[in-house]
Amino acid sequence: MTQVASEYERYQTSSIMKKLAAIAHGGNYRGQTSSATYEEIACRIQKMSLPPESRVLDAGCGNGAFSLPLADHFSFQVEGVDLSPMLVQEAVTKADSANLASKCHFFARDFTNLSNYPSASFDLVLCIGSLYWGQPLVSTLAAWHRITHPDNSWLLLFLNLLYKPLNQDEKSAVGVTQFVPVLSLEEELAKTGWAISEWSDGTEQYIAWLQRWCSAMKEMTDNIVVEMGEGAALQLIRRFTAYYNLAQRHAVRRIILKAEHV
Ligand SMILES: C[S@@+](CC[C@H](N)C(=O)[O-])C[C@H]1O[C@@H](n2cnc3c(N)ncnc32)[C@H](O)[C@@H]1O
Repeated sequence: MTQVASEYERYQTSSIMKKLAAIAHGGNYRGQTSSATYEEIACRIQKMSLPPESRVLDAGCGNGAFSLPLADHFSFQVEGVDLSPMLVQEAVTKADSANLASKCHFFARDFTNLSNYPSASFDLVLCIGSLYWGQPLVSTLAAWHRITHPDNSWLLLFLNLLYKPLNQDEKSAVGVTQFVPVLSLEEELAKTGWAISEWSDGTEQYIAWLQRWCSAMKEMTDNIVVEMGEGAALQLIRRFTAYYNLAQRHAVRRIILKAEHV
């Protein structure tokens, strides 16, 4: 399993990470590990006018925090895939206890390699906060294009894009995080048959979210150290502080992108 999946597994079992996420999200917290909220996702999907029973792939679904309410509120058939077997198991358990097991299926799979799915299997591919660990961009976008229908199907991405190069200190602070450069994304979407229909900048909300996250980390530093050990705690604080500074200087922007299969 890759480093990124094991990192999210550590977060899943960490009570302090859940507390920090809950503080950062306030009333919008549903167990998600990204900065996205269900409301931001749902209002965009609403406008796509997809019929009930549409098939949705939640690529990098984590613990199913968004897959489940989408299956419930929109009556979609949702398939969630994530690299982490532990998160997938948590999603399966949540689907069972919410009586959504017939509408939500979860698999430990790599969303960059979807050769097991026939062409035109899905009406929507969602990728929420899961595309910045150096995944191969062109082949992933092409794979998502292949598995979506030629008519009225969509891609909805929430991701943090790189607008200015990082300096050495920032690179070392963000560790394995690799932000997709803005120009590559625009070019690769066009190359792989996706037409952008919305490009919204959510950087200001992201800064506010990181600010709440960082000040909670400051207040709870002792608890973080007790739970994670000093080395890991300081590394985590340094990383989130770097995310915050990068967003503030607009080197990284939080983008919500909707694209149509053409
Ligand atoms: C920030 S979390 C977001 C999870 C969920 N979308 C949410 O918003 O709560 C990123 C997730 O992407 C998953 N991930 C990263 N690369 C992946 C890949 N190539 N295939 C499947 N999952 C991947 C990680 O395991 C992690 O659970």
